Amino acid sequence: MRQDIQEVLFSEEVLNQRITELGAQLTEEYKGKSLVVIGILKGSNIFTSDLVRKIDVSLRMEFMAVSSYGNATESTGVVKILKDLDREIKGEHVLIVEDIVDSGLTLKYLKEILETRKPASIKICTLLDKPARRKENITPDYLGFEVPDEFIVGYGIDYAERYRNLPYIGILKREVYEK
Ligand code: IMP
Ligand code: MG
Repeated sequence: MRQDIQEVLFSEEVLNQRITELGAQLTEEYKGKSLVVIGILKGSNIFTSDLVRKIDVSLRMEFMAVSSYGNATESTGVVKILKDLDREIKGEHVLIVEDIVDSGLTLKYLKEILETRKPASIKICTLLDKPARRKENITPDYLGFEVPDEFIVGYGIDYAERYRNLPYIGILKREVYEK
């Protein structure tokens, strides 16, 4: 798979270091509060799994699967829920964990849906942010790294369902998706 990667942006060690730092910040933020961490499938599965182990407070884990209508590279902002939460979040503190924020349409819509369920608070933690392509005014509360406007894969993030198992994050060579 390495031959399909143009450049490694964040190695396993760098990811681990940053996630440890985020975990420490989140531990401070949520100590003494009732926390529900919502991982957005499938992309944030690996990030969520590593992150929760660095958050030293009692928490619940939930997963949602969403698909945004549109073609492969542009989302429309209308999100279909493929898998919903197992339990209510009313009165609890919600942390949405995303892999990458691009246009921001998915998260804006998701946040609106979750707000109707009356949690005590909703914050967003994303591993990566691609601000160059933002269409909605969404600012992550917690961010791992900013990335350039390139196609990113690895550490849970896919191209056509592949490359999720790369232990690092890199830029996919254009020739892989332009052929
Ligand atoms: P948004 O609604 O445009 O912010 O879409 C965000 C979603 O698009 C992410 O959760 C990813 O699933 C996907 N996405 C955005 N940029 C990339 C990328 O560079 N590589 C792989 N998936 C991406
Ligand atoms: Mg995603």
